[in-house]
Amino acid sequence: MLKDSIQNAKSIPELQDLYTATFGKNGTMTAKLKEMKNLEMDARAELNRENSELRELFKNRQTELENAAMMAALANEKLDVSLNAEPENRGTIHPLTQGLHEISAVLESFGYVRYTGPEIEDDWHNFTALNTPEYHPARDMQDTFFLANGNVLRTQTSAIQIRAMEKQGVPIKMFAVGSTYRKEMDATHGPMFGQVEGLYIDKNVTMSDLIGDIRSFFKKFFGLDNVDLRIRPSYFPFTDPSIEVDMKWNGERWLEMMGAGMVHPNVLRNCGIDPNEYQGFAFGFGWDRLVMLKYNLPDLRDLYGNDIRWLKNSGF
Ligand code: PHE
Repeated sequence: MLKDSIQNAKSIPELQDLYTATFGKNGTMTAKLKEMKNLEMDARAELNRENSELRELFKNRQTELENAAMMAALANEKLDVSLNAEPENRGTIHPLTQGLHEISAVLESFGYVRYTGPEIEDDWHNFTALNTPEYHPARDMQDTFFLANGNVLRTQTSAIQIRAMEKQGVPIKMFAVGSTYRKEMDATHGPMFGQVEGLYIDKNVTMSDLIGDIRSFFKKFFGLDNVDLRIRPSYFPFTDPSIEVDMKWNGERWLEMMGAGMVHPNVLRNCGIDPNEYQGFAFGFGWDRLVMLKYNLPDLRDLYGNDIRWLKNSGF
């Protein structure tokens, strides 16, 4: 019987063939329905009932077969999540790189333009132009790596402010980032460390502009509403007056954060700039120290150890 065949159709194509044989152009029901007008009332009602019953049966079987097909597909594609997967080695951004991106973004938002310079520097850019000529006692402030030809491994990014002023002249608002080298090694000092240098020279730049920018920088970089700064007199041959900036950390201890000051007239002169017309400030700090503080890292050497286990667990 047709009804049993519908009920027992094993697949959607089989059901479709049956449907065509019943309701298609030459289908059995189609033929009967064409004759409807010649039938008695009772027979018409009976045919109508049969018509809807068959359509209903087709529809239900179709749904059953579709559901069964879906369940079969699901069972087939099921993932065994208990299987051991191959370990995946995913790279992450190194904490120092991440910190540098953040520092640069803050300084750029203040209008400082980024510069770079060579790590092997000549005496002029690393010392002499920075008002530290030969025999100047301040050369001993930094334990320098000398190369046989008299060049040095850059001891400070301050060398880049000279290059920037020579190249661009004034007014200038720039910052430089890069590795610097000194002969020292303990938990907070390595022979290589990252420094950031800022320089702003124009006609009316003052010490309060300097302190304002430093305060805004710390606020934005550390995400603080307010920062307590302590300004102490200091000495650098290339700034006068020179200051050291401390910042109150966690409301309890003072941390030494950076050196800064008003650019010494000799430095401006060495770059062909008239100090009677232009003045400005410079500041410099260790960017790895800032990263250590922001992310609460205890030992600077971890940052340069390239130990994958540490890097993976450092929270980056
Ligand atoms: N170059 C100084 C240092 O390495 C830091 C500094 C930069 C100080 C600019 C003043 C102005 O210690």
